[in-house]
Amino acid sequence: KNVAVFASGNGSNFQALVDAVKNSQLEANICLLISDRPGAYAVERARAAGIKTFTFNPKEYFTKEAYEKVIAEKLSGVNIDWLVLAGYMRLIGPVLLSDYEGRIVNIHPSMLPDYPGKDAIGQALAAKVDRTGVTVHYVDEGMDTGPVIAQVEVPIKEWDTAESLHTKIQDVEHRLYPSVLQSLINKQGE
Ligand code: GRF
Repeated sequence: KNVAVFASGNGSNFQALVDAVKNSQLEANICLLISDRPGAYAVERARAAGIKTFTFNPKEYFTKEAYEKVIAEKLSGVNIDWLVLAGYMRLIGPVLLSDYEGRIVNIHPSMLPDYPGKDAIGQALAAKVDRTGVTVHYVDEGMDTGPVIAQVEVPIKEWDTAESLHTKIQDVEHRLYPSVLQSLINKQGE
């Protein structure tokens, strides 16, 4: 299956997917890394891994529809099966949603529907709860609202800081995302 990953930032989840393909833990072809931030470290990771990149600056377009049409064109050129969002800090609009309905997934650092949106880790710490987690879900037009595919809990200890919790959550994410994607690909092939 052909996969395109969308990332705006560091790209550690993108890297985990790339590594999982290399280790034969994920039977997919990561064809393209798409980023709305040309300077994102994820873009550098893609280049290092020999994966094609498409970067764009949303400010150069009048509407989401306009840049998503450009993305849709890039995607159709490589026959993509799955859109995998990994720290992509934008909502997906109707152009991509209609083309890839049921084939767009996202990973979020909380047990959704708890703490959607930005800084889910900070939100969990501020709420003084003793557990949070990671969710992989289908993407719809809302912010972190689509149907949940898989969730893993992460305990919060008294001594946890934003940084330590971030590390724990990312460890879980890096294992969960490749395995969930593999099971989606398996199901699709049935
Ligand atoms: C991850 O925590 C993911 O859950 C959220 O954005 C973060 C991206 O991290 N959607 P990275 O860029 O993959 O390191």
